[in-house]
Parts: sequence; structure tokens; C-alpha cells
Amino acid sequence: MKIEEYLETLPDNLLSGEDVQLPEKSFRDIFKFVNLGKDDVFYHLGCGDEKGLEIAVNEFGVKRAVGIDNNSEKIKHARKILEERNLKAELICEDIQKTDISDATVILFWFTDETIIQNMMMKFENLKQDTKIITIWGPLPDCLPDKVDFPYIINKTPFKKAQSMQEQLLAIFGVKCVDFVTAWEFAERYTKAIGTPEIKNDRFLTIIQTLVIWINAKKLGVVCGDEIPESIKTYINIMKMHFDIDFEYLLKE
Ligand SMILES: C[S@@+](CC[C@H](N)C(=O)[O-])C[C@H]1O[C@@H](n2cnc3c(N)ncnc32)[C@H](O)[C@@H]1O
Repeated sequence: MKIEEYLETLPDNLLSGEDVQLPEKSFRDIFKFVNLGKDDVFYHLGCGDEKGLEIAVNEFGVKRAVGIDNNSEKIKHARKILEERNLKAELICEDIQKTDISDATVILFWFTDETIIQNMMMKFENLKQDTKIITIWGPLPDCLPDKVDFPYIINKTPFKKAQSMQEQLLAIFGVKCVDFVTAWEFAERYTKAIGTPEIKNDRFLTIIQTLVIWINAKKLGVVCGDEIPESIKTYINIMKMHFDIDFEYLLKE
């Protein structure tokens, strides 16, 4: 089966990211990376629960912490935990596209929905200077990252526009061209950052991410050399032979 067909077999609430939550370690890594502190007003867009807010308040002492989610059940559950723990944070049940985020200094924004991203870009572009929007895996559309600790990316206002996706990709990976080693290294970082410690099949995930990174880079014309690296050929064969997942057709497109 083609990789797309395989992905369609995965639970939609996971593939869409609806019920994906960052592990605590990731929140701490992200907050250290963005240097979150007592003068910050932190917004967690699509927060899902209170975890990020709790760490931002208790461990980084932010001035204000606000979680926005349009799922009333999730917000109700998270509010109950905030009250039980007497935590000074706010939860708003609302569509983030409607929310006033004008006082934000740091925003965590992990969305893949193209329409939501486009609509939020208009809001982000009107935020005050030096507001930091954290994204994961990729920068905001057409933006050059301010800082990268892959898969965490800081986009800072006013945004620096990228001339091309090639420029964006190379800015993320910090290389002149993408080879197998770079693809593997960044795939591993993503799996480690997003995966929970007890994850069993992180090698399987890393192989899929590596092939996705390298094949996307090839399509953008930023891979090193003209030949398909032996390691890429090997993993494409392994995915086909052992998991019946096909990537080859992507190289022909
Ligand atoms: C976008 S992801 C966020 C993933 C992850 N929870 C995070 O920490 O970034 C999924 C969450 O966003 C919420 N969500 C999806 N669309 C939304 C919207 N338009 N406005 C507010 N929340 C939204 C979902 O209810 C879900 O809890």
C-alpha cells in the first residue's frame, strides 16, 4: 500500500493531531528554548488540557497563562484540575480564530489545518514586535525562523519572509543540502521530542520520517548529489518488504 494509504489506516484523531498532546518534557524543552519567564504572557492555542499552562505557571513563573480550545469537554476537564490545584491560569473555550491574543508575548501553536493556519497568520502579523510564536516541525508559512531547536521553531514578529521553501528548509536544517544523515538526525529528534518515553516503535516512526524528509527535500531540489543514497534505497526496500508500505512511487512523481 502507498504511504498515504497506510496513513489513512491510522486513527483520525491522532493523524489530525486532535488528541495528540505534547509530553511534559517537551513543554519544558520548549519553554527553556523560548526563554519563558516572569514578564511573559503565554498563550497555548489548541491546548487540549492544562499541562502546558501548569508548567508555564509553576516552573517558569509567567505573568499570565491562557489556554484556548474549542472542545468544551476538554476545557471543562482541564478547568476542574486547575481549580483542584488552585492554579493561577485561564482556560477559554473558543475558536482560536476568534480569540483576542493581542497581549501575548509567547504563543504555542501546533496546528496542521491549512485554513486555521492562514487565518491565524493575519492575527500573528498584527501582534506587537518581538512576539514569539512557537511551531513544531515547520515554520509559519513563508516565514524564516528566528531560532530553531528542531523540531521546535521560534517565529518572531515582524516575520522575516523566506524567498522560497528551499530557503526555509535549509534554514530549518542549517545545511546547504539534505543528505541521508541529516534526514535521519532530524527525524530522530522529532520522534524523541514528540514521542512519549514508553514509545515502542520509535525506530519505525524515525524511518518513515527520514524517508518523508529526504523525499520532500528531493522534490524541492535541495538534496545532496543526484543519486538516491544507498541508505534511502535500503529503507524504502525494508518498508516495502517488511511492512508492505510503498514509498517508491513518490520518487517518480
Ligand atoms: C491543534 S491540536 C493541538 C495539539 C496539542 N494539543 C498541542 O498541545 O498543541 C489539537 C487541539 O486543538 C483543538 N482545536 C482544534 N481546532 C481548534 C480551533 N479552531 N480553536 C480552538 N481549538 C481547536 C482541539 O480540540 C485539540 O484539543
